[in-house]
Amino acid sequence: MPEIFINGHPVQAEKGQTVLQAALANGFYIPYFCWHPALSIAGNCRICVVQVEGRSWCEISCNLPVTDGMRVLTDSELVRAQRKDTMQFITLNHPVDCGICDKAGECTLQDYHYAYNGAPSISREPKVTATKFHDLSDRILLDNERCILCSRCVRFTREVSKSSALGITRRGDESLLRASEDGVLDRDAYSDNVIDICPVGALLSKSFLYKARVWYLKPTPSVCPGCARGCAVDIWHRKPEWKLRALDPQQNTSIARVTPRGAQGPDGPWICNKGRDLARIFERPRATAPMVKGKPVELAAALANVRSLIAAARHPAALVSGWGSNEEFAAFRAAFGDTFRVHVKHDHRPEPGEVVEDGFLIRADKNPNVAGARAVFGVGADSPPAWHGDTDLVLVWGEGCNFADLPRGAAVVFLNAYLAPENGHADVFLPISIATERAGHYTNFEGTVQGFAACFAKPQGASDAQALFESLATVAVATP
Ligand code: SF4
Ligand code: SF4
Ligand code: FES
Repeated sequence: MPEIFINGHPVQAEKGQTVLQAALANGFYIPYFCWHPALSIAGNCRICVVQVEGRSWCEISCNLPVTDGMRVLTDSELVRAQRKDTMQFITLNHPVDCGICDKAGECTLQDYHYAYNGAPSISREPKVTATKFHDLSDRILLDNERCILCSRCVRFTREVSKSSALGITRRGDESLLRASEDGVLDRDAYSDNVIDICPVGALLSKSFLYKARVWYLKPTPSVCPGCARGCAVDIWHRKPEWKLRALDPQQNTSIARVTPRGAQGPDGPWICNKGRDLARIFERPRATAPMVKGKPVELAAALANVRSLIAAARHPAALVSGWGSNEEFAAFRAAFGDTFRVHVKHDHRPEPGEVVEDGFLIRADKNPNVAGARAVFGVGADSPPAWHGDTDLVLVWGEGCNFADLPRGAAVVFLNAYLAPENGHADVFLPISIATERAGHYTNFEGTVQGFAACFAKPQGASDAQALFESLATVAVATP
């Protein structure tokens, strides 16, 4: 292991590391714009300069390999002067419209301006203007004046999503980021990652545009339920202390945006666009009234009906939700033992136009926890289920069941979170909470178990499935 010295302190670096990597890994901060740990080195922003002791010039640390005995300074007078000049250069034509920029509060350019420059522009020339609100794709807006041409987004589409959808046209102060004209970025299922990795506010999410200042939001750790990969995500929503009392109070309980949680999940630092669109899945009209044969009743009456149906059934079966959590599966098992013949259900299937599976993150199974259900019940998702000929009761938990496929004449108990015509067709209907309203764990297709936390309270009238199973636990089943 090469030993280097950073600001006089000995540091054990890894062989093959750059000075930037060795410094960051050992608690020495060096600023960077264009470097990204998951992308190739471009070396174009020049903000990461350091000085090797004894040399009268600076060099970029993101492309400087460590060598044994190397002595570098990250904060010499020369380094400070060069960083300041670089910041002046990078912001030469910047519009400084931070007051209306969605990146404000998370912008590296803002942070570095205060840390390494702090002075007004020394230029007396008028700023070169460029296109604002350029439609880069159906999902992304580009502000060319804010772009510092770091090329992170270009490299992402070449090296990670492999769409090669972005490039930089023209030269000098006429350089512009542009998408290829055949709509490839629209078809790139991972395109929105460029919004996260853009170090400035040049790439803007249309769905998040001007929705909230980020300091009014907080992230809750969660797991994307969009497929069996189970990417680790942060669900961003309004902080309780910044609750809106006027305007649209619904914003207090809605998802503002979804971002990848970082490199620690099974997805690395990336997620697909479906994972960003969880509001479309979760924010559908909700069912809140328990029903018996389509008529709203109190929860206690609905549960009494379920108890009678289970007690009278001779061959009960259950379609267990592939969106249930490990805790809910355990509660089901503890409550009912072997009472039900269990089938695991795919609540969601690929939608028209959706990427079914690729060689990267997206999995064909559009449910987060079929692996967790298999671990508890010993069966995978069989579709359509092989019904026992005498099945006389089916407990259907979650979406994705066509009632016409259920055994003829069987009574149906239905647990669902959303408004659906089937709710009123069940003998007993019980409205349940969704994953953003409770905590739990999912097991992904590789066996990785990850937790998710609640972001919001469940609507009045909805119950946690786990609580329902526990309250039905004492039901005796008729012996066949
Ligand atoms: S849009 Fe952002 S990520 Fe892309 S080149 Fe410009 S500054 Fe870099
Ligand atoms: S790959 Fe699957 S789990 Fe990951 S963000 Fe996309 S839909 Fe969600
Ligand atoms: S981070 Fe090193 S040149 Fe940009």
